[in-house]
Amino acid sequence: MASDATALADLVDVEHGYRTKAGAVPALGPIDLRVDPGEFLVVVGPSGSGKSTLLRLIAGFERPTAGDVLRLGGTPVPGRDVGVVFQQPRLFPWQTVAGNIGAALRWADVPKPDRSRRTAELLAAVGLAELGPRRTWEISGGQQQRVAIARALAARPKLLLMDEPFAALDALTRERLQEDVRSLTDDAGQGVVFVTHSVDEAVFLASRIIVLTDRPGRIALDVPITLPRKGISADELRGSPEYAAFRGEIAAAVRATVS
Ligand SMILES: Nc1ncnc2c1ncn2[C@@H]1O[C@H](COP(=O)(O)OP(=O)(O)O)[C@@H](O)[C@H]1O
Ligand SMILES: [Mg+2]
Repeated sequence: MASDATALADLVDVEHGYRTKAGAVPALGPIDLRVDPGEFLVVVGPSGSGKSTLLRLIAGFERPTAGDVLRLGGTPVPGRDVGVVFQQPRLFPWQTVAGNIGAALRWADVPKPDRSRRTAELLAAVGLAELGPRRTWEISGGQQQRVAIARALAARPKLLLMDEPFAALDALTRERLQEDVRSLTDDAGQGVVFVTHSVDEAVFLASRIIVLTDRPGRIALDVPITLPRKGISADELRGSPEYAAFRGEIAAAVRATVS
């Protein structure tokens, strides 16, 4: 099928392998995957199934060994239309919290007079309005990851790529950030690709889940998650029978990939 210019990302017959001393390691594919505006796509799969590889290909950090990775109707990859959040926040330690956001705004070509207002807006959006002047080592791991999310949103990217961003956080912080990210990304024009190996996290966040097989990762399951995204509390959602049903379905698919 021809690529549609409205897709945020379109992987056509993509395969990726790594060259190592021991020979070629096939990591991913063949895989066809299209991400549309408004989608919150969560990628689940066992360790080593190519989840990070998939994200790096979409980001343009790697070129596929076969097939095509298209973004936004053919924008050059890598471009500035994606924001990326990794498992570790990777902030600039010599900058303040606000300085980290300011650097991202500068890199996104936001004019200098607008930067302090945009920095304040971004910090407020991730619940850190008061922390702009602080040093990054003075704030908690969860707060650092919030700064990393604000920084990724600085350029107003159409596509937000997140690779196990909450894996290093304690359970409570992780749940709070999941709730924030779920509502932060309600913009109909935007899309998210989020990698996790937590089935709970996947079902809570996703509007669609793909489960990858064991290496080389291929799509074992691709399901829309039709849980309400508005007008329901996080606790109600996590306690609902529909949530439990999706959780069971995804968990079974993940188990099947490693048997
Ligand atoms: N730079 C690399 N060189 C060689 N092999 C790699 C490299 N990066 C990843 N791999 C291998 O490719 C496979 C997929 O890796 P990755 O995408 O990181 O998986 P996941 O994120 O699902 O754990 C793994 O078997 C891994 O060992
Ligand atoms: Mg990974």
